[in-house]
Amino acid sequence: MAGAGGGSRRPGARGRGAAGHAAGGVGGSRQVFVRVKTARGRTASSQRWLERQLNDPFVAESKRLGYRSRAAFKLIQLNERFNFLRPGARVVDLGAAPGGWTQISVDRVGAPGRGLVVGLDILPVEPIAGATLIEADFMADDAPQQIKAATGGLVDVVLSDMAAQTTGHPQTDHLRIVGLCEAAFEFALEVLAPEGTFVAKVFQGGSETAMLARMKRAFKAVRHAKPPASRAESAETYVVATGFRGEPETD
Ligand SMILES: C[S@@+](CC[C@H](N)C(=O)[O-])C[C@H]1O[C@@H](n2cnc3c(N)ncnc32)[C@H](O)[C@@H]1O
Repeated sequence: MAGAGGGSRRPGARGRGAAGHAAGGVGGSRQVFVRVKTARGRTASSQRWLERQLNDPFVAESKRLGYRSRAAFKLIQLNERFNFLRPGARVVDLGAAPGGWTQISVDRVGAPGRGLVVGLDILPVEPIAGATLIEADFMADDAPQQIKAATGGLVDVVLSDMAAQTTGHPQTDHLRIVGLCEAAFEFALEVLAPEGTFVAKVFQGGSETAMLARMKRAFKAVRHAKPPASRAESAETYVVATGFRGEPETD
């Protein structure tokens, strides 16, 4: 486990730059479209990827503000709509690498000190001042225990932006995606404090019907949201469950 630390720079601090924009909007000024020339050894798909990166206002803005990922804007936008990252909140961020969501969480909850942020990823994450980072596979038996040891008690928010590497085999990929989301949900049921929030990446067309039904019983409100920073062509969307009240006993 890597402890908190890693310099005092706080990208995304409120009042500095565009992070505080209404609706996490970017691109107030007009961008000039950059076209990428073909180059030897560059495939058509890598050319398209490069062109998209160069012309993506969220990529440019995340670089400018020192965010580690453009995904940071997805959390900014979800939080602007649902307001779950309150000062003093205790947050677990699953699938934290490279660290954009952790950076935003640390800033919004005021960690360390007022709030607390624990991030976990199977990949290493460069230290983020104010956050405790755990390098582990969330599906490993001891991962939930490692997180609980780091939080020291119940938490107010469980975030999961986890996405497994795709294998190219649609059924396998689908099962892995649903498996990660279900595991994050089970974990949230164990560690959330009353009124807590669970936010997870899901995919349109996914077969998480049974999980959603349980979620609706365990939370006061369950909504789906696709933040503007989530690419329109991506099937990704987020489920935001607020007002945790625990899972009712079943006979
Ligand atoms: C879309 S990225 C997260 C981006 C992050 N929210 C940010 O803002 O920087 C998805 C992450 O999920 C992680 N992941 C996938 N499967 C995982 C697992 N079993 N355990 C832990 N992390 C996992 C990947 O390593 C990857 O870093």
